[in-house]
Amino acid sequence: MDLSKNLVTDEIVAALVRLAEQTGVAERFAAMLAGEHINTTEDRAVLHTALRRPAGVSPALVVDGQDVDADVQSVLSSLSAFADRVRSGEWQGVTGKKVTHVVNIGIGGSDLGPVMVYEALKPYADAGIQARFVSNIDPTDLAQKTADLDPETTLFIVASKTFTTLETLTNARLARDWLWAGLAASGAIGDDEQSRTDAVAHHFVAVSTALDKVADFGIDTKNAFGFWDWVGGRYSVDSAIGLSLAVVFGPAAFRELLAGFHAVDEHVRTTPLERNVPVLMGLLNVWYSNFLGAQSHAVLPYAQQLSRFAAYLQQLTMESNGKSVRWDGSPVTTTTGEVFWGEPGTNGQHAFYQLIHQGTRLIPADFIAFANPAYPLQDDGRDVHGLFLANFLAQTKALAFGKTAEEVQAEGTTGALVAARTFSGNRPTTSIFADSLTPSVLGQLIALYEHITFTQGVIWGINSFDQWGVELGKQLALQIAPAIEGDAEALAAQDASTQALLAYYQEHRRP
Ligand code: F6P
Repeated sequence: MDLSKNLVTDEIVAALVRLAEQTGVAERFAAMLAGEHINTTEDRAVLHTALRRPAGVSPALVVDGQDVDADVQSVLSSLSAFADRVRSGEWQGVTGKKVTHVVNIGIGGSDLGPVMVYEALKPYADAGIQARFVSNIDPTDLAQKTADLDPETTLFIVASKTFTTLETLTNARLARDWLWAGLAASGAIGDDEQSRTDAVAHHFVAVSTALDKVADFGIDTKNAFGFWDWVGGRYSVDSAIGLSLAVVFGPAAFRELLAGFHAVDEHVRTTPLERNVPVLMGLLNVWYSNFLGAQSHAVLPYAQQLSRFAAYLQQLTMESNGKSVRWDGSPVTTTTGEVFWGEPGTNGQHAFYQLIHQGTRLIPADFIAFANPAYPLQDDGRDVHGLFLANFLAQTKALAFGKTAEEVQAEGTTGALVAARTFSGNRPTTSIFADSLTPSVLGQLIALYEHITFTQGVIWGINSFDQWGVELGKQLALQIAPAIEGDAEALAAQDASTQALLAYYQEHRRP
């Protein structure tokens, strides 16, 4: 970790650490680890850190009368056993074939974590099994992701904490229809109820906290993996929601991922605030947002494998900290929740870096790089990864130190061009540099950002673990759905703008 290119002095860091002390960051973290109901609006514990506690820690973590460690280890064992069966070919499709593709159907936290980790760790896939991820209720998503798949070798994982999410259940039903139609078309199954039930038993498993609803869907609960209401959706990739990852990469790699998370949990738990990396990074974010007026935060991985990392962080940080009221319901007194965004370098360099270098906005950025690439390719005897890293180092250097008018003039530039070619510098970055992108390092990275998000939430006095803001849209979609189908009463109940948009739809839709 290199925090040295941030816009702070020792005095400012000391003041920020005092802010963390005054707002009780360490106490709040301890309360979370102990299973106190810090998610007050839903009256729940917040225990994603329990998902990665190693087996056999003494004393066991007991929360609300429940041995949480035992529950976690039990699901981890059944998940590992299932993953091994799929990987070895012992688990077979309805026609006796080995699974070659797992398709995770989920959305939000039941999608973004698994897909991000899948892309990041692809070089570790060692069982000849690939994963696909279907999330959008736009039927294009399922249609395209299944177009070239063979139903006989495809296993669907329906991942939904609540098992009520409209997008996921709709996609799961579409997938079930696709499976039945495909198997029947090739004569693999008959067109009767029993054949269909058998097909689902061999090609559908589920991950949820609501196992009764899994059964209602027609998935046998012996093929379902549970988790608990104390795991927030956006904090759930290290729960059974990561089943697709355990299948593709193996249970050992999945446990290594969890060990990485745990190493950072331990760092946060045991390190004084002034040397506690996630706390310091959270404080820097507060400094830039609340004191220097930054509106957004860029995350720029110099690793193609982290192509979905910014998207993952958007849910983690923005669903957590996009809040306007404090724990007690009173309005917040500062801005909260920056806009997180980013793309892998060097693509970003040729797209939006201009604004970070010379624009009028302050955009703090985290750069993430690895000393060793997954694919060490050479270009005419030159190490391409070295060239990639030179870009990472050059960008953070240019942002920090800029280029003065004198330096520009010394190169022979004159007139108005001097100002255009001058860089102010003092644009803050943090560099995260690791040996290579292993499962453990990825777990560490995710936990780092979880705890940065937590630190900011505590300082702002908000509940980072609810997401009421997503609810209204969900409710309205259910109310508008009948109007889409032409229900006059539902149409009349809409506002003028929505009515006009619906009229456009009715006029233009093709049967
Ligand atoms: O976007 C709202 C949300 O509740 C997320 O927090 C969650 O990750 C997502 O929907 C999916 O929910 P579920 O896993 O219950 O289908």
